[in-house]
Formats: sequence, C-alpha cells, structure tokens
Amino acid sequence: MAIADLAARLVRCLPPEAAHRVTVAALKSGLGVPARRPEMLPGRAVKLPVSGLSLPNPIGLAAGFDKNAEAFAAMLGFGFGFVECGTVTPKPQPGNPKPRLFRLTEDRAVINRMGFNNEGLDGFVDRLSAREPGAGIVGANVGANKTTEDFVADYVTGMQAVWRYADYITLNISSPNTPGLRDLQGKSALEDLLGRCGEAGRRLADEHGFLPIFLKVAPDLDDVQIADIATAAKAAPYLHGLIVSNTTLARPITLRSAFKSEGGGLSGAPLMAPSTEVLAAFKTEVGDSLDLIGAGGVADVDDVWAKLAAGAQAVQLYSALVYEGPGLIRRILAEL
Ligand SMILES: Cc1cc2nc3c(=O)[nH]c(=O)nc-3n(C[C@H](O)[C@H](O)[C@H](O)COP(=O)(O)O)c2cc1C
Repeated sequence: MAIADLAARLVRCLPPEAAHRVTVAALKSGLGVPARRPEMLPGRAVKLPVSGLSLPNPIGLAAGFDKNAEAFAAMLGFGFGFVECGTVTPKPQPGNPKPRLFRLTEDRAVINRMGFNNEGLDGFVDRLSAREPGAGIVGANVGANKTTEDFVADYVTGMQAVWRYADYITLNISSPNTPGLRDLQGKSALEDLLGRCGEAGRRLADEHGFLPIFLKVAPDLDDVQIADIATAAKAAPYLHGLIVSNTTLARPITLRSAFKSEGGGLSGAPLMAPSTEVLAAFKTEVGDSLDLIGAGGVADVDDVWAKLAAGAQAVQLYSALVYEGPGLIRRILAEL
C-alpha cells in the first residue's frame, strides 16, 4: 500500500473535518506526495472539443477538497488530469456550524453541509497566481457569499479575480448549503446569471484572452428543469460546458449509515446512478454543443466508463478519495 493511502486510512480515525484539515496541511507541505507524476500516456489524453481544454487524462478532482487553492499541486502529483479549486466566494466566510461533515462508511458516501467555508478570493488568487507554469490544469470554482445582496454580482467578481490565473472557471449554482443558491437554476434567474456572466466573460476574454467557463448543476432536477437549463446553456453567449453534478438532497432508501438523516448534500456511491442518469439526460438535450464533465459517485474504472458512455468527455471525483486514498487515481489510470 502506498504511503499516502496508508496515511489516508490513518486519518480516517479522526473526525471527518479534522481529517480533511490534517490531509490538506500534509499535502501542502509535500508529505506523501509522489516525487514524479504518474506517466501520462497519450492514449488517455483528451481535448474537450468546445472548451478547448487539453487534459492529460480525463480524471479530475472535484471542487470542495481544495477550497482555498492550497493543495492543487500535490493532487496533480497523484495523477489527476485536472484539479478544480474552490468553491471560493468574494469575501471569506466561516460556513455552517460544526459538525457539518459526515462519513457514511457503510454506504461509501459522505454528507456535507459545509456552506462554502473558505478564505475568500484574495488568498485564493495569490496562491493560484504563484503556481508553476505548465504544472497541470487547475480550474477555479466560484460562488456567492451567503449574505450577498446580489448573487450574480459575486460570480462576476469571482470571474474577474481568477481569470488570468485559472485554466477554466466553474460557476457553481448547485450547492445545497447556501440558501437560495440553487434557485439560480430556475429559468429566468439562470438567464440573468448567464447573461451577466457571459458579458463579463466576453469582456475579460477581450482583455486577457480566452478561458472556458462551465456551469455546475444539481442532480435533483426533473425533465422539464433539465430541458430549461439546457436551452439556456446552449443560448448563453459565453458558456462552454456543464459539470453534472453536485451533491444530492435525496436520501435513497438503501442508505444504512447512522448519519443518513443528517441535513446537507449526499455524495459518493449512492450518487453514481442518479447523477449519471441526469448526465445522460443533459447529453440528449445539448448534443455536441457543450462539453460535459460527469461527477457523482465515481470510485473505479467502471464508473469512469459509465460516465463517458453517458456522454461525458471527462469525470471528476471527491468522495471516493475518503475511502480509497489518493492512490486510487493511479489505480484507475492503470486500468483505463
Ligand atoms: C465535503 C464536500 C465538500 C464539497 N464542496 C463543494 C464545493 O465547495 N463546491 C462544489 O462545487 N462542489 C462541492 N462538493 C461537491 C463535489 O465537488 C462533487 O460534485 C460531489 O461530491 C459528487 O462527487 P463525488 O460523489 O465523487 O464526491 C463537495 C463535496 C464534498 C463531499
């Protein structure tokens, strides 16, 4: 067993949020990080047709693990083809009261109601701007402060701050733990968001050059909502792809863990099937006009193939790391 996986097993003895804190601190200092990135075979590289992102492999780290852009270099070192930092909000905010993160071990799942705890854009941008050129693809996932008077203005502020330093931007409108945020997925709110962010995108691209923008959606959508979001996304002046999906508010009856009734978003194995269904539905709606990144429950190579078969060009994962450790990426890449 790799040292990093052993360490991951050991930190699971800590409460979940402490384990995460210790892990990020260790990664920041380079502890357990492979000296060399796993070999990136050309056969696994992908170029997303619409957004033009060239990924050395299609497996990404989903947002939420590296909220403050502290550990992306280490995570790229474990073999991720791309790492998404954030969600970052314009101002720092503490997030929800603790406890707010729960391991559902029997279900290979996680429930979180973190509520966008993060240190804000200033430090995030400093760290992102100091990264080594060519060291890997890093995206910035931006969101809105809980107390903002104008959600959309916060996304525009985030875009402006990270534009020159990220490889892509994700507009996260699907976290269930900021009251009102998911309402941005409604038809007129979404048109407003995509219009104003699209305008900002066009201006920033003129000034600083092209950057792809993704929209991250929830899995808890019916067919009408999926069709509405797809229509708005296709018509958006400056949007290149969708990330499907964030965590779910649903609680499948199959859950066994004592924590299954905790409030927040559920991720991990129980999210694999429903999020892949929603991904396939989006693929039917958008065809080849937008790139799709599949997230939700990916834990092995079969899950990767299932997301790709449903229409994704790349995938992201987070919860499986809690149970498998970062050596998981190398194992999946070897089998892909
Ligand atoms: C503890 C935790 C925190 C998360 N924080 C964020 C976040 O800040 N922004 C975001 O877009 N998604 C966040 N997510 C959602 C993940 O990025 C991902 O979409 C979701 O967990 C499904 O993937 P998974 O089943 O592989 O974990 C978080 C997930 C977890 C488990």
